[in-house]
Amino acid sequence: MIVIRGATTIASDTKEEIQRAVSELLEQIESRNSLKRDEVVSLVFSSTSDIHSYYPAKAAREAGFIGCSLFSAQEPDIDGGLPLCIRCMLFVEKNISPSHVYLRGAKVLRKDIAGKINIAIDGPAGSGKSTVAKRLAKEYNILYLDTGAMYRACALKGLEEGIDLNDEAAVVALMRDVKLDVVYENGVQRTLLDGRDVSEAIRENAVSLASSTVSKHASVRMHLVEKQREIAGKMSCVLDGRDIGTFVLPDADFKFYLTASPDVRARRRHEELKAKGMEVDFETLKAEMIRRDEQDMNRAIAPLKQAEDAVRIDTSDMTIDEVVETIKRAMQEKI
Ligand code: DC
Repeated sequence: MIVIRGATTIASDTKEEIQRAVSELLEQIESRNSLKRDEVVSLVFSSTSDIHSYYPAKAAREAGFIGCSLFSAQEPDIDGGLPLCIRCMLFVEKNISPSHVYLRGAKVLRKDIAGKINIAIDGPAGSGKSTVAKRLAKEYNILYLDTGAMYRACALKGLEEGIDLNDEAAVVALMRDVKLDVVYENGVQRTLLDGRDVSEAIRENAVSLASSTVSKHASVRMHLVEKQREIAGKMSCVLDGRDIGTFVLPDADFKFYLTASPDVRARRRHEELKAKGMEVDFETLKAEMIRRDEQDMNRAIAPLKQAEDAVRIDTSDMTIDEVVETIKRAMQEKI
């Protein structure tokens, strides 16, 4: 006896959608394992608690699984769990090495089977990108790449060396002499300049506008974009930045553009800095943020803008949980 596992997600909690999803999942399991119906001894389903319109076991019976025992159970709610998800286990009288099947949104549960995914999240400062990206990375157990940290590290070095950040040649020369690394410690990104951990220093308010200034230069961008593409090419990750969906990864599997009103964004950033003990005047911060947006949106190369195929989410009146949920559902619908 062997056990074959499978999972899928539904777009909405309706009888028709559950019937469709169960039929599709079982057909795929049968065909990938060359199963005959009478080889299936029993079939157990579990579904998340947001599914109540219909029993997956009943859908399986209707799909022709007559001779085996069938059972459906409901899973408890798990913080950050995949919504609208149906899982199954088939107990099969056959001596094969099983091919488990993960479809639609459930693909993210098994990246070993489902392959690599890249999620691009772009938007202006304070739109909630990094918080949301970190949450998604944790929930899907994939890497989070904060591309802004790379521009910030260049800016920090430029500020430390006292060079004119508008001088492209000077910035590039500086970068040639410095080793910029992004490493991961317990899943948290650390940014290193010549081996020195600058993860905290690059968050200083003075570095924000400076990073926007260095990011205008084509040669600086190409240098960093190459590193970003290299990382994203190797593994599943969620990247946040300004040009991920438009320039760094135009073929990203999922693209989102987060935005919020300038007031809300400035308030969030103000709170963030305050929590770190950095006191900045609110109006000054807001003015700087608007200036930075303008600079990022109007630069000649890879400016901040929404990719045509990105899902736009205005987070002004949303909690982080709501934004994460919206993104997960949008991903499920697309798969
Ligand atoms: O996301 P952040 O605030 O850490 O980004 C700092 C600056 O870096 C931002 O104002 C513009 C630049 N940046 C960019 O040009 N492209 C990216 N992909 C990420 C950041």
